[in-house]
Amino acid sequence: VPSAGELPITQYVPDGATIDLAWGHPGEALLPVQEWAAATEAALTRYGWQALSYGHGAGPGPLVDWLAARLGRIDGRAPAPAELFVTAGASHALELTCAALTRPGDVVVVDSPTYHLALRVIADHGVRLVGAPADDEGIDPAGTAALLDRLRSDGLRVPLLYLVPTYANPTGGCLPADRRAALVELAARTGTALVEDDTYRELAYPPAVAPPSLWSLADPAADPAPVVRLGSFAKSVAPGLRLGFLTGSPALVRALADRGMVDSGGGVNHTTALAMAAFGASGGYDRHLARVRVGYRARRDALAGALRAQLPAVRFRLPDGGWFLWLRLPDDVPAGPLAGAAGRHGVGFLPGARCYLAGGGSHRARLSYSLFDPPQLVDAAGRLAAAVAELSSPGRSAPAR
Ligand SMILES: Cc1ncc(COP(=O)(O)O)c(C=O)c1O
Repeated sequence: VPSAGELPITQYVPDGATIDLAWGHPGEALLPVQEWAAATEAALTRYGWQALSYGHGAGPGPLVDWLAARLGRIDGRAPAPAELFVTAGASHALELTCAALTRPGDVVVVDSPTYHLALRVIADHGVRLVGAPADDEGIDPAGTAALLDRLRSDGLRVPLLYLVPTYANPTGGCLPADRRAALVELAARTGTALVEDDTYRELAYPPAVAPPSLWSLADPAADPAPVVRLGSFAKSVAPGLRLGFLTGSPALVRALADRGMVDSGGGVNHTTALAMAAFGASGGYDRHLARVRVGYRARRDALAGALRAQLPAVRFRLPDGGWFLWLRLPDDVPAGPLAGAAGRHGVGFLPGARCYLAGGGSHRARLSYSLFDPPQLVDAAGRLAAAVAELSSPGRSAPAR
């Protein structure tokens, strides 16, 4: 934490008083500081000057090779090296995908609800965003097919559909297998590519295993490719690395590697990418994942248990992976006013409406349990219960902290 006059080092600076569950950031104790120091040293020792030179455009060979093999083990299909492009995280992968595949004035369809900050990345490209029909199981393929037809018959280009189908942000849910297959078929038929944000795949809590990606279900020979999958090491290792990847068609990978930014500066985060290759090859990544999966599951259980005990009127599903609980609030407790009351009681959350384009989510709240340890999460649930009590029976409100 910076002292007065110092510039901050991190995006989130705790204020010491609020347990702010709005931030989807990793817990301090679950970041691999020593292990990453060892991986960096191993990469510099092994690759020497090559680790510090300009990197190969699509990403350095050792990371691309390791990642292709890894995805083959944890997903339905291993990408060929020509289908992989190393990025500065999932946000950068989304930025590049939009840059390559959209034009200003296009429509991009997005899941409802969805990762609120992806909406900003997409909107930066001068496109119009339209929400897809969805229910409690996720995006509805038949309704989405009808929506795409309507948009096309209005003469609009719809190059992309963005969704987070696995341990979703904000719902924590996984899209069912039949809907996955139907969406891939829809994309292949219409030419609207699915942009599958797969950021949380590696954070399945044992014994759960993440379902096969939409990308792995698509025909590898289809042209244009129906799915671009975005991956990240931000949640599985550390966001400060700003390292991720995408899997897409070889034509998309070539187009990205051919962009002026890559021609000028080389592959992004080259030294970090080689450290990740060393971390993966040494077994350090597997050991780290085993630790954080159990750590995040314990955080989920602490928050879920405390909410059930203290707020029985609040409903939610228990996710099998990822970082979020998606609450349905009682009718007399809208999320907007609750956020104000919660702030006075020293707890924060993301109001559900932030995850919709317009309308929806008025009685929803996203709680991230990643950043705080179990005792703090139990404390947060108590503070939230006091805020809910204040709204549901205003005459008998608990004193604000
Ligand atoms: C669904 C989703 N996509 C992307 C990101 C950002 O990923 P990165 O840090 O790799 O840019 C997040 C982080 O909250 C996320 O939840």
